[in-house]
Amino acid sequence: MPTIEERYNEMFGKSVAWYERGKSLFAGGITHQTRFTSPFPAYIDYAEGPFKYDVDSNEIIDYVMGNGSLLMGHTKPEIVEAIREQVGRGTHAGGASTHEVRYAEAVKRLVPSLERVRFTASGTESTYLALRLARAYTGKTKIVKFHEHFHGWHDYVTPESGQALGGVPQEILDTVIVAPVDIAAVDDILTNEDDIAAVIVECNGAHYGTFPLQNPQFLQDLQDLTRKHGVIFIMDEVVTGFRLSPGGAQVRWGLDPDITTMAKIIAGGQPGAAVGGRADIMELMAFRDDPEWDNFGRVPQGGTYNAQPVTAAAGIAALEAIASEGINARADAMAQRLKDGLNEAFTRNEVTGHAHGIASIIHVNLGADCNCDRGLCDMPYQQIYDTMPVDKTRALRRAMLVNGVDMMGGRAFLVSSAHDEEVIDRTTAAFSQSLKDLRAEGEL
Ligand SMILES: Cc1ncc(COP(=O)(O)O)c(C=O)c1O
Ligand SMILES: [Zn+2]
Repeated sequence: MPTIEERYNEMFGKSVAWYERGKSLFAGGITHQTRFTSPFPAYIDYAEGPFKYDVDSNEIIDYVMGNGSLLMGHTKPEIVEAIREQVGRGTHAGGASTHEVRYAEAVKRLVPSLERVRFTASGTESTYLALRLARAYTGKTKIVKFHEHFHGWHDYVTPESGQALGGVPQEILDTVIVAPVDIAAVDDILTNEDDIAAVIVECNGAHYGTFPLQNPQFLQDLQDLTRKHGVIFIMDEVVTGFRLSPGGAQVRWGLDPDITTMAKIIAGGQPGAAVGGRADIMELMAFRDDPEWDNFGRVPQGGTYNAQPVTAAAGIAALEAIASEGINARADAMAQRLKDGLNEAFTRNEVTGHAHGIASIIHVNLGADCNCDRGLCDMPYQQIYDTMPVDKTRALRRAMLVNGVDMMGGRAFLVSSAHDEEVIDRTTAAFSQSLKDLRAEGEL
């Protein structure tokens, strides 16, 4: 019986040559740090619905789903058509466009806290702009972020985000306070430190909910605390936006952030993102017919591709589907079916572990179980760290790939409305087989 690695090498053989070409072109051979997979990545040729197909023509059930941007699966016809139509009508307006207005209206319809919106080209730019706005509004410098929470790759959000710190200046590190996920500790920080502009939080917990927050209580407490201390409350809804509910985490849980950052689903699979929030904060970006303000006081924002018409067209199509087609309910139901199937697979194979998660994101803890309700897991964070080290998530991802499924980071499933019952049941069978394969190799 060949090993998992031998099967991987055989199944994805044609990818090796692409990886060799990539290595001579890209630092580390790849173009996004999470695309690193050992021994080499599978190179994808095309994708459709819940599937993607690599250069060896393997059909892979996809749960990476554009790093969470494709809540409706690949190639949803309405989005494809909207993009196709717009490409022929010009890809860049080089000025204000009707698209940006309709796009912002589609966003606001789903997320009522957004009194004003600005578009950017990525989630990283959105969190960067949100922090700049908070500093300008409060006249304060420091920001509070949470341990392990990921908000992109700019300097201010890199500390303790699961990323290395190479090249990040000490002056910037000195402006970032990393808080434990503990409301009393946050209260202490906000009480004892008076130069804090904002608190930013990944709404479902670090790394798209791998380390879950006990919500809605945690976010509600955080909102109350920021109000009490006069600090800007930034909900980073890059992942949770339009997924936890059509209006994101804030609508699901009745929250009212000062600023919200959004990306991924908002742009229908195109490169696009947004920042929105209270008018009095956002208006700090506006021109005022006052040269002193306009040139020296205003919060600046550029961005060649902000709300470019193709992104806007795709985003509008995606948001209209979310508003009217029951996309979230469908994806959530498929996720529930998958979660049940995964937990049954653990039991049937007598492997310790469990699957949990809310809405359409499922997390897997291989090697650790707890008494959670399989929704919001309350396992201690240290135990999550200890049971899912990188070599184990890589091993699980590889085992699942040879069984025809791609998991997000080897520890999560981002389910879409394009995954149907048959695909979900195939995934459960692949997971069960992967547990057997890993056990045969002594990995479990
Ligand atoms: C919560 C969160 N914020 C921000 C970002 C950064 O977004 P982008 O990759 O579009 O720059 C991500 C990316 O995964 C994210 O998960
Ligand atoms: Zn649990």
